[in-house]
Amino acid sequence: KIYIIDFGSQYTQLIARRVRELNVYCEIHPFNHLPVLDEEVKGVILSGSPHSVLDTESPYIDLYKYRGKLPLLGICYGAQLTAFESKGKVAPSEIREYGRANLSFIDQSCPLLENIKEGSQVWMSHGDTITDLPEKFKVIGSTESVQVAAYHIEGEQTFGLQFHPEVTHSTDGKEVLQNFVVKICGCSQSWTPDTFVDSTVKALKEQLGNDKVVMALSGGVDSSVAAILVHKAIGENLYCIFVDNGLLRKNEFESVLESYKHMGLNIKGVDAKDKFYDALRDVTDPEQKRKAIGRVFIEVFDEEAHKIKDVKWLGQGTIYPDIIESVSVKGPSATIKSHHNVGGLPDYMHLKVVEPLNTLFKDEVRRVGTSLQIDAAILGRHPFPGPGLGIRILGDINPEKVRILQEVDYIFIQGLKDHGLYDQVWQAGAILLPVQSVGVMGDERTYENVVSLRAVTSLDGMTADWCHLPYEFLAKISNDIINKVKGVNRVVYDISSKPPATIEWE
Ligand code: XMP
Repeated sequence: KIYIIDFGSQYTQLIARRVRELNVYCEIHPFNHLPVLDEEVKGVILSGSPHSVLDTESPYIDLYKYRGKLPLLGICYGAQLTAFESKGKVAPSEIREYGRANLSFIDQSCPLLENIKEGSQVWMSHGDTITDLPEKFKVIGSTESVQVAAYHIEGEQTFGLQFHPEVTHSTDGKEVLQNFVVKICGCSQSWTPDTFVDSTVKALKEQLGNDKVVMALSGGVDSSVAAILVHKAIGENLYCIFVDNGLLRKNEFESVLESYKHMGLNIKGVDAKDKFYDALRDVTDPEQKRKAIGRVFIEVFDEEAHKIKDVKWLGQGTIYPDIIESVSVKGPSATIKSHHNVGGLPDYMHLKVVEPLNTLFKDEVRRVGTSLQIDAAILGRHPFPGPGLGIRILGDINPEKVRILQEVDYIFIQGLKDHGLYDQVWQAGAILLPVQSVGVMGDERTYENVVSLRAVTSLDGMTADWCHLPYEFLAKISNDIINKVKGVNRVVYDISSKPPATIEWE
């Protein structure tokens, strides 16, 4: 495996993605919590950083923890730090170098740049430049304006790149990273979904032995894949619980329960609708609603878990981006970010936590799911918020409003599926507005609810664009909703992007 030391660059996760795309396992560690080396670590990559090595506050590590012991690749800040520490000179560039450049000189004899052709496009994003290299540092790549675009330290397996090979605009970037992790570090490219399943199941068997594990499932990708892995390891000792909070989509409780049973999981469906509705009565503030839903969920889950004798572990579908200890922007004193899928559960229940997906990115979870032959319907499901329709009914919630929204949502989502649009959309749903509007149906004047449809494209939910769904499709869905759902006489389409709007309305 490869260690990536994070100095807070916006591209650090991208480095990890690229290395993993080469079927090589890697881990990101923040510079202020350096990992110890074990024999499985074959090389270390130093990330970029928003800081300058010239700042007194800039992130710093003792490079000799790694340098000389293992192959080391510094990228951008990482390269500058390595040169700076050996008494090289780093200075602010005359102009900030940002964007595409081409390598006008390449030393092909250096294994890092083997098979990379002169003229290869690279992506630059830096404010400082290395102006003087220390002794033994040899330039192996230059662009028109950056003489030290790549270097190698003679007699060592230490390299530096001023450009960002992890960014796709560096057209041969993947090849450069492959040269490093495969040719130079000697990693075997054997980290695939299948080998991940095998090694994880083996490790879970050892970790859990004959212990019992309880898990809350949501119908979402992460918890489902995590549960199947644990189930493969310990079978019936995994107890799954799926809570109907009364805020799920139409028919979702039944159909998700059915598909879990189909996959062989030992799952119990708990109808707790009334408890949630009671707790939500007259609550209108979004955060209060979230809190109430979270609180009741913990109560219901805790009660169910206590019925399982001697349960020791809580299984969770936490994924890697949730737990990467982020040092970005905040600098050296940054506190470590951590959050859990099911808010508050682990602390409250005094159970040990098992998180089999906590090293994977979202798309890797999907690939593992495919290798486990989990239903495509579950793997391809749009994200759905924990508080469910509760945050899509603006204002207070009651069962009648839930019914209306479930019907509207069903027509919209089913429509997307029927028209082959579902997979082009990252997330879609409907929002019940706390507004009545005048309409006319037949000869009668109506005064009924307005719903908004929302569909977005996104990579990770952090930013999102509204979907340009075809007008004909929107027209049909609007018609169907108004004709079929009693209580709705107007449909609008949300054309706001995030930022400045958010995906949900509450
Ligand atoms: P926003 O509305 O912040 O949503 O743009 C980004 C993503 O997060 C989901 N979301 C939630 N998920 N509990 C959740 O589990 C919540 O309280 C919550 N609020 C928003 C939202 O559906 C979108 O995918």
